[in-house]
Amino acid sequence: MLAIKGREKAPVDSVFENLKVLGGFPAENLVFAMVKWSEALGVSCDHCHVTGEWPSDEKREKGIARKMVDLGEQVNAALREIKGLKSERPGVNCFTCHRGALKPARRKN
Ligand code: HEC
Ligand code: HEC
Repeated sequence: MLAIKGREKAPVDSVFENLKVLGGFPAENLVFAMVKWSEALGVSCDHCHVTGEWPSDEKREKGIARKMVDLGEQVNAALREIKGLKSERPGVNCFTCHRGALKPARRKN
């Protein structure tokens, strides 16, 4: 299932079945990305996946996670338009907002 032996360096979308937003990196990095997402949200894999059925799109949270990838790309594109920032490549990732929680904190007032 997660056995990708011999195909670690192959393009990620040639090894996994149902990728719609991720791509452009070697297959071996997918699990690393998934661990990072899980840590950023403070959840385990089964928050987004039906246990043992990785390609399945059954869970609502998996669809939301795809939208979150789009959201991050939009934020990053907007950041690149802002002149005078300190970082050479300003950007956000899941952890920027989530910080280990499903619901990012929001100041009430
Ligand atoms: C926040 C939600 C989320 C969490 C947590 C998560 N995943 Fe995923 N996972 C996704 C999404 C979304 C995709 C599909 C990405 C795409 O469409 O490009 C995916 C794809 C995958 C795939 C590829 C399946 C295929 O063949 O298409 C595997 C394998 C996988 N995840 C394993 C894991 C493992 C292992 C963990 C825990 C360490 C994990 N995921 C945690 C959302 C999540
Ligand atoms: C710009 C801030 C921001 C970024 C970046 C971001 N998120 Fe979110 N995310 C949110 C907010 C806000 C919510 C809505 C929480 C609520 O009110 O329900 C949310 C909700 C979610 C949910 C639904 C949680 C649930 O179970 O109901 C998932 C899953 C999720 N985000 C995954 C991700 C992943 C994966 C990434 C990185 C690829 C990411 N998010 C990046 C702000 C962000």
